[in-house]
Amino acid sequence: MSQDPLFALAKAAMERSYSPYSKFPVGCAIRTTSGATFCGCNVENASYPEGTCAEAGAIAAMVMGGGDTIKDIFVIGQADGLLTPCGGCRQRIREFSTVDTRVYMCGPEGVRGVMTVDELLPHSFGPEHLADHEKAAEKS
Ligand code: THU
Repeated sequence: MSQDPLFALAKAAMERSYSPYSKFPVGCAIRTTSGATFCGCNVENASYPEGTCAEAGAIAAMVMGGGDTIKDIFVIGQADGLLTPCGGCRQRIREFSTVDTRVYMCGPEGVRGVMTVDELLPHSFGPEHLADHEKAAEKS
């Protein structure tokens, strides 16, 4: 089976990672529902908790590029098992996802697993909760 071109983009992004502290490079590539692609890598710094994840970089690039809905998102790292997005990134991805969004978890050799956002972050909190709240506040 031929590899989705998003895999190569995510892998190239991983190669740009700045991760001298964790030594755990991660790459991410997004395809929006309009077909545009955006990439990001994790970027660390000497104040360890202040680093940013690859998904956060790719989502920031997407927003800057005018994208708003993620169709496919590939995350790649050199974990032994399945490299699933961290909790914070699940929420970041969720913001720009639909039920059709697919999260592809990859190792250097290819895709290891695919999940929906709801599988990764069940019963999630999202923008519609705030919209419901606003509507309720308008009524009262
Ligand atoms: N990392 C990501 O970039 N994405 C994830 O979903 C998991 C963790 C990065 C953060 C840090 O630079 C390194 O991997 C080790 O935690």
